[in-house]
Amino acid sequence: MKPSPSGFDYDSLNAEYPGHRVTDPALAEQIHKQLGDAKTVLNVGAGTGSYEPEDRIVVAIEPSEVMRAHRSSELVPAIAGRVEQLPFDDDAFDAAMALLTVHHWEDLERGCAELRRVTRGPIVVMTFDPEAETEFWLRDYVPEMKEVELWRYGPMERVVEALGGAEIVKLDVTRDCRDAFQVALYARPEWFLRDEVRAAQSAWAHLPSGAEERGIERLAADLKSGEWDRRYGKLRERSSITCQLRLVVGGAKRSS
Ligand SMILES: C[S@@+](CC[C@H](N)C(=O)[O-])C[C@H]1O[C@@H](n2cnc3c(N)ncnc32)[C@H](O)[C@@H]1O
Repeated sequence: MKPSPSGFDYDSLNAEYPGHRVTDPALAEQIHKQLGDAKTVLNVGAGTGSYEPEDRIVVAIEPSEVMRAHRSSELVPAIAGRVEQLPFDDDAFDAAMALLTVHHWEDLERGCAELRRVTRGPIVVMTFDPEAETEFWLRDYVPEMKEVELWRYGPMERVVEALGGAEIVKLDVTRDCRDAFQVALYARPEWFLRDEVRAAQSAWAHLPSGAEERGIERLAADLKSGEWDRRYGKLRERSSITCQLRLVVGGAKRSS
């Protein structure tokens, strides 16, 4: 598979990915609630199968061979394919979900149009609002990350428009979130020092040369000296923080 336009090649992932990027039960509950009473659910950019509901019929589609191969044998196998060209009939599914994937698509508008074509009910997108306020401190160490995020995720309005209107739901990320995306580690700064943890977070691949090393060196020094704890240590006690994670819920069941 060629790298996605975001420049991240999921086929070159190391074997650590499935160990670090797994279903977080609290997030799963919020996602599944938005699926309503859907019996059939399409999961696009399905990856290794995180967040796929166990009590509904799921069809998964995923372009990366490596991600497909890492799916548990308890899940349905994923079909090889991209969201921009879905091999399904109109209105084939009660609901669809697209979780932490829209920023990788070749064509957001085309992908959302395809989701609307094949889905009768809710379309649940989990993504980040890069312009929203956040208490997450990583940008203090890696300031270049802000530009990367603005470029990758773009304005939320673009996703809302592409879905033909949508409701935006703020998500709480808890201190013990099991899915180790960046903000999930807000109270576990030491995790960022581990190469395999960062390797399972695609944003690092887009930084200008040297930015990752500089940021991680500064973080390591501040953790050693106690400076990190002086500045942000209270977050270790916080059960959740204000962050940029959002559900964008569109689809025909919405009133607009
Ligand atoms: C961060 S992973 C998220 C996987 C899964 N949804 C999850 O929440 O764990 C992003 C996924 O999007 C997939 N992807 C990239 N481009 C895509 C496209 N055009 N259509 C569908 N999926 C795509 C990648 O291969 C990758 O598996």
